[in-house]
Amino acid sequence: MKSIQSNIKKAKKFLDKNHCVAVPTETVYGLAGNAYSSLSVKRIFKLKKRPMNNPLIVHYSDIDRIKDDCVINDNFVKLYNEFSPGPITFILKLKKGSKISKFVTNKQKSLAVRFPKHTLFKKLLKSLNYPLAAPSANISTKLSSVKASDVTEEFGARIKYVLDGGKCQIGLESTIINLLGKPTILRFGGLDVSKIEKILKKKVLIKTNSKKKVAPGQFSLHYSPGIPLRTNAKKPKEDEAFVLIKKRKTTFKNYYYLSKKNNLKQSAKNLYSLLRKIKKDGYKMIAVEKIQNKGIGKTINDRLKRASRY
Ligand code: TXA
Ligand code: MG
Repeated sequence: MKSIQSNIKKAKKFLDKNHCVAVPTETVYGLAGNAYSSLSVKRIFKLKKRPMNNPLIVHYSDIDRIKDDCVINDNFVKLYNEFSPGPITFILKLKKGSKISKFVTNKQKSLAVRFPKHTLFKKLLKSLNYPLAAPSANISTKLSSVKASDVTEEFGARIKYVLDGGKCQIGLESTIINLLGKPTILRFGGLDVSKIEKILKKKVLIKTNSKKKVAPGQFSLHYSPGIPLRTNAKKPKEDEAFVLIKKRKTTFKNYYYLSKKNNLKQSAKNLYSLLRKIKKDGYKMIAVEKIQNKGIGKTINDRLKRASRY
């Protein structure tokens, strides 16, 4: 307990000085900086090698803290009450006079907000008097980090501090919903779209491949292990690593398992680590067997599809 408090204090110290620190969330690790400080936000873009026109998500401890920064609407309140804190990001109207740095939003009039569930991150947010802009803690287009050691692998000594909160529970990024007009999903993620529709009592639009390139994964290559990957594979070619969703009776050195028994949640949690491991083990190509396109399987397939554009 004591060390948790002192780690949070350490993270706060760096953040107060406009440095970036990595933070654990229930989805993936974030690379956080003070969202009100342009210096801090520019450092995030530089570290990640992220194009400045790709806006960041801002993280808050609770609804009371967003009131100076964005305009709240009915759909937001419904979804917030049901799913926050949790793996959902809301696009809302940015308030005039908000202190959010213009680099966060690429001067757009909307703001992406999220309320993370991880206890450490929540405690950290409560100890600050500013919200945290945080993209996933990885070099742009690469695999997101789901463990503190992944973050260190990505950034080495260039990052001042990693707040270690263990392995991420969900393992894939948040679901993003645009609530400015008709509710529209911009990215599949940790929360099922069907659950959102149940609360809103209507179908939502799905625009995960917009040509405007304002949202995630809409830059063509994303979530890439850095080697070619193909999906819906029946069997591996020579020299390929083969990713499977359930254990086989006869197994080979190049077989890697996402779960023991075709479990989609477990597979989501293991996906990025497994792909990282395969690359580290020296493989030059990855084949992935067909994964059921339901529930979080949809998000897994979305990530694999984008990773296969290598
Ligand atoms: O689970 C997550 O959402 C993680 C954790 C750290 O919270 N964060 C994350 O951030 O995945 P990032 O930056 O890797 O992906 C967020 C995506 C960006 O690609 C960006 O295009 C989109 O959100 N985004 C941010 N602000 C937006 C806005 N105002 N309108 C539309 N899309 C936006
Ligand atoms: Mg990302």
